[in-house]
Amino acid sequence: MTETLAYEVRRVRGGREMAAALELRHEVFCLEQGVPEREELDGRDHEGIHLVAVADGQVVGTCRVLMVGTTAQFSRLAVRRSLRRRGVATALLRAADGETRAAGGRRLVLHAQTYARALYENAGYLPRGRAFVEAGIEHIAMEKQVG
Ligand SMILES: CC(C)(COP(=O)(O)OP(=O)(O)OC[C@H]1O[C@@H](n2cnc3c(N)ncnc32)[C@H](O)[C@@H]1OP(=O)(O)O)[C@@H](O)C(=O)NCCC(=O)NCCS
Repeated sequence: MTETLAYEVRRVRGGREMAAALELRHEVFCLEQGVPEREELDGRDHEGIHLVAVADGQVVGTCRVLMVGTTAQFSRLAVRRSLRRRGVATALLRAADGETRAAGGRRLVLHAQTYARALYENAGYLPRGRAFVEAGIEHIAMEKQVG
């Protein structure tokens, strides 16, 4: 049986933790998925709320929420490969809902990689429109109302 994974999900704390979150994104998006670094680092990190999942002092998951008026743009969701399918991404999505509500946001929007669509559907997102290719990977736009 897989051991229960103990972790907390919260906003990133300090420069070292932010660097660890960026390192995880690099590992997952650039090294694992082949996304060019210039697309992974889009120059908008300073505007965002960064959430992390921390287990045993290590950043094992991360995501970013950018508030644009009452819309939250959700992106950069990455979980350490060895700890996937244990609910970490689902917990990050739940925390992003909370951040959006707290900021007075009404909806979240994201571009889901189509292979992970069920993850977002389970979290209450609905697809919008047709699939398209972004950073060489097939995506679909999805959104969720909160409030
Ligand atoms: C996508 C990703 C963030 C999911 O993280 P995770 O912590 O493993 O997700 P969860 O454990 O919360 O998954 C919840 C549900 O989502 C769905 N899901 C998650 N990963 C999936 C996969 N690879 N294929 C199909 N469904 C998947 C399943 O329904 C899963 O429930 P189950 O494990 O009971 O079947 C992780 O695989 C990852 O970092 N991938 C590489 C980066 C990436 O693709 N980011 C998303 C960009 S849109």
